[in-house]
Amino acid sequence: MARNRIVVITGASSGIGRASALRFARAGDCVVLASRRGMALRELAEECRLQGAPGALAVPTDTTDEDAVQALGAAALARFGRIDVWVNSAAVSVFAPFVEVPLDDFRRVIDVNLMGYVYGARAALQVMSPQGRGVLINVSSVVGEIPQPYTAAYGMSKAAVRALGVSLRQELLLEKETNIRVVTIMPATVDTPFFRHSANYTGRQILAMPPVYSVDKVARTIVNAARLPRNEIVIGAASKAMVRQHRRHPKSLEAQMAWHVEKTHLSTHRSADITPGTLHEPDRSPGDATATGGWHGGRRLARRRFIGSSIAAAGIAWGLLRLRSRVGPSAR
Ligand SMILES: NC(=O)c1ccc[n+]([C@@H]2O[C@H](COP(=O)([O-])OP(=O)(O)OC[C@H]3O[C@@H](n4cnc5c(N)ncnc54)[C@H](OP(=O)(O)O)[C@@H]3O)[C@@H](O)[C@H]2O)c1
Repeated sequence: MARNRIVVITGASSGIGRASALRFARAGDCVVLASRRGMALRELAEECRLQGAPGALAVPTDTTDEDAVQALGAAALARFGRIDVWVNSAAVSVFAPFVEVPLDDFRRVIDVNLMGYVYGARAALQVMSPQGRGVLINVSSVVGEIPQPYTAAYGMSKAAVRALGVSLRQELLLEKETNIRVVTIMPATVDTPFFRHSANYTGRQILAMPPVYSVDKVARTIVNAARLPRNEIVIGAASKAMVRQHRRHPKSLEAQMAWHVEKTHLSTHRSADITPGTLHEPDRSPGDATATGGWHGGRRLARRRFIGSSIAAAGIAWGLLRLRSRVGPSAR
């Protein structure tokens, strides 16, 4: 697909959605921006135009409202006449031990992260099917493959989004719709305001668990995926190593992940406020609508490299041990 694609993005006001909108704009594409914060979207639309988007439309949308998501698709169609790419990125999370999560918050995470994507996928496919082409990009997470403690609702929603992608690809295959593609993006931790936005009932500060990837790397992957779609894209060498390890040795990787979350995702001291985050209401304070979250310091980059190489070394050691045990003592 060439320039001037029409790209709808949910969760555009901050983080990955915002960084992707700006990248699509710089590539010469028109963007249709959706999230709850109208003012942030209007400012972003202006920035996108300045960066090169031939057209940019802000459509305030709560993605848990099916009619609002239908109206988003209709607004894109009315303004630009088609939809080439639809990116579902709007999501929230809640941190708490499973039995302590307020059920309203648990349901809200499922509503935004799963039903919001379902409404988005339906609105996108209703336009892409008669067009006979288009790319639907669902932002899931490595957590969709390797869930974590204290975020059951989030992990469930991200696994379900992966499953949604597989089902849709199968239906498109049966319908011989070879020009409509569904991509699932699976990043690990990304430097965005996401953790500041999350609900937190742990009493501990939520930290960006290393390895932390730059939001630009994820945005670049999304823009490239719109051009050259692949079914599932795990972002980053350390994330790929974790996924490989999980498929080979789920028990040990799950134990490692539990330990890693306990030690690095939440502070040891209990000094955090109890908060529903932005689950039910967005953060409208000036300066919150940014792409980055302030996590990408040099120390974290160093830790990321250290952890990446540790995971690789552990994988190699594990492989060698298994090889030796298969070969048996006679060969030694
Ligand atoms: N950051 C990470 O470490 C990470 C890792 C893996 C995957 N991801 C995934 O990446 C995607 C983007 O997250 P992010 O890191 O960019 O977080 P973020 O900065 O918090 O962005 C989330 C976006 O979702 C929007 N949103 C939340 N609830 C909404 C609702 N009900 N209706 C419409 N929009 C809503 C927010 O805007 P408003 O408040 O204006 O509505 C915001 O634009 C998510 O799918 C997330 O699961 C993130």
